[in-house]
Amino acid sequence: MTAAFLPFARPVIDESMIAAVGETLRGRWIASGPQVQAFEAALSAYVGGRPVRSLTSATGAMEVALELLGIGPGDEVITPAQSFFASANVIERVGAKAVFVDVHLATRNIDLAAAAAAAGARTKALLPVHYNAPLDPDALAAFRARHGVRIIEDAALAIGSRAGSRPVGATGDLVSFSFHPNKNMTTIEGGALVVNDSAEAAAVERLRFHGIAKLADGTRDVEVAGGKYNLSDVSARLGLAQLARLDEWCRARERLAMHYFGCLAGDDLLVPDRLPPRENPGHSWNMFTVLLPLGEMAITRRQFTEAMQREGIGIGLSYEAIHLTSYYRARGWREGQFPVSERIGRETVTLPLFPEMTAGDVERVCECARRVVRSRPG
Ligand SMILES: Cc1ncc(COP(=O)(O)O)c(C=O)c1O
Repeated sequence: MTAAFLPFARPVIDESMIAAVGETLRGRWIASGPQVQAFEAALSAYVGGRPVRSLTSATGAMEVALELLGIGPGDEVITPAQSFFASANVIERVGAKAVFVDVHLATRNIDLAAAAAAAGARTKALLPVHYNAPLDPDALAAFRARHGVRIIEDAALAIGSRAGSRPVGATGDLVSFSFHPNKNMTTIEGGALVVNDSAEAAAVERLRFHGIAKLADGTRDVEVAGGKYNLSDVSARLGLAQLARLDEWCRARERLAMHYFGCLAGDDLLVPDRLPPRENPGHSWNMFTVLLPLGEMAITRRQFTEAMQREGIGIGLSYEAIHLTSYYRARGWREGQFPVSERIGRETVTLPLFPEMTAGDVERVCECARRVVRSRPG
């Protein structure tokens, strides 16, 4: 019997979640309403009490965050060259300039010394990404104090992460989460923004819904040309059911990640330096990323991925170096500027990791990866 295909990510959707969504659909209030409010209250409680507003994606949340800060043409925002494209694209979409800096190899998180060197008079914000480890809240606070900039944490991969004893989102300035199905919990598509106070929350509400403000006489006013990023009640109901299981799923991910380390231990090609940091308390373990030893392999990364696929194992690519995509090259960014991001962009693959995987699945992936990494073309 051939083993079932193992995707690199898969959300948990159980019958109780399907029933909860069904109930919302049957209730006929399906666009933003009471479930959105309940979801936002639950998210706020989860991150320690700051206000949270839901949006249709993390991309939308970060765009709204930039608008909230009044960032636009003439402004610069510093962000890592190694992340999902959205982290930089949102900056350009509001008319500002994405200024790239490199990342640290193991954590894949932004090099704050490089960010400090890149900060100048036009710098309005820092947009760092929680990647292979939670960002250090004290280091971010120090950066903010020293450079007088706002910080939008891209925590798309980090719902469920903890930095020290506190959940990501409890500290810092603005923090954005994604609830895409590949993340640690899902609303199908969706995201959220943690803000500092009720005034910011009200501004986000306007920016995510046409800029509309209600006037005392019952009519509506528009002071800002807002967008349309409000989450549906159907998605929010799924989010509520998912949030209740989030910590359990994060623990399952951590157990599976530790099993990966155990199964890969002693391999002379997939050495610890090529794996995520093992001592990584509080990490969400959204992904298990590996750098392939391409110089010691007879096959390319593409051939590795295709061979794994033929064995029934899905492999992700997280991520290409953003500054080397056509859009950013056309704006003057060049190969060689961010060697760590570029190396990750060339060598990275993401192995399957999701809560419903078994220890046997991890062993199958490792056995296969160890074999394929040593294979020859053809
Ligand atoms: C680091 C990072 N930032 C932002 C996003 C965008 O999230 P969304 O799809 O919710 O817009 C993603 C999605 O993969 C991501 O990985």
